[in-house]
Amino acid sequence: MSAPDGEWIFGYGSLVWRPDFEFLERAPARLHGWARRFWQGSPDHRGRPDAPGRVVTLIPDEQAVCWGIAYRVGTADLERVLRRLDHREQGGYTQHRVPLELDDGRRIVGLVYVATPGNAHFLGPAPLEQIAAEVRAASGPSGHNTEYVLELARALTAIGGTDAHVDALATLLTGSDHR
Ligand code: BEZ
Repeated sequence: MSAPDGEWIFGYGSLVWRPDFEFLERAPARLHGWARRFWQGSPDHRGRPDAPGRVVTLIPDEQAVCWGIAYRVGTADLERVLRRLDHREQGGYTQHRVPLELDDGRRIVGLVYVATPGNAHFLGPAPLEQIAAEVRAASGPSGHNTEYVLELARALTAIGGTDAHVDALATLLTGSDHR
């Protein structure tokens, strides 16, 4: 049997709810050993240089599991999709290959974008109330930062993907229990 066409791309941020590219297959997926955190600044999409938004990156954490969506992108589209993603995510993210577990039990390797500490836009940890205040104040060409958080929380709930950090921030932003 030949290998399936294309490459898997793992979305754990806006790609969970807004993948603006063509794909052959989509599946909820888990990435073990990484925690999703709103620790990356967005001066160009969900904020502005003087008030950067907060978007997600991945932080190594042996105990953590990050839920997201894996997309299989066909070989014919791959170069164009990656070029688009590189442009969309140019603010400090680099590509990595990671093992993923799909919800039907398949184990695959996928590409993921990670913004590591030390990149020019990395904001790092802060008390959740401060993160919420920064999110409330930030808006950019891609929309309001609050929308980014709430759409991500909604999309994760829809696939049964729990994430305490995302839920706690969504709860602070809406003033009611997210789940
Ligand atoms: C995403 O999964 O939506 C994503 C997160 C960071 C960079 C690129 C894509």
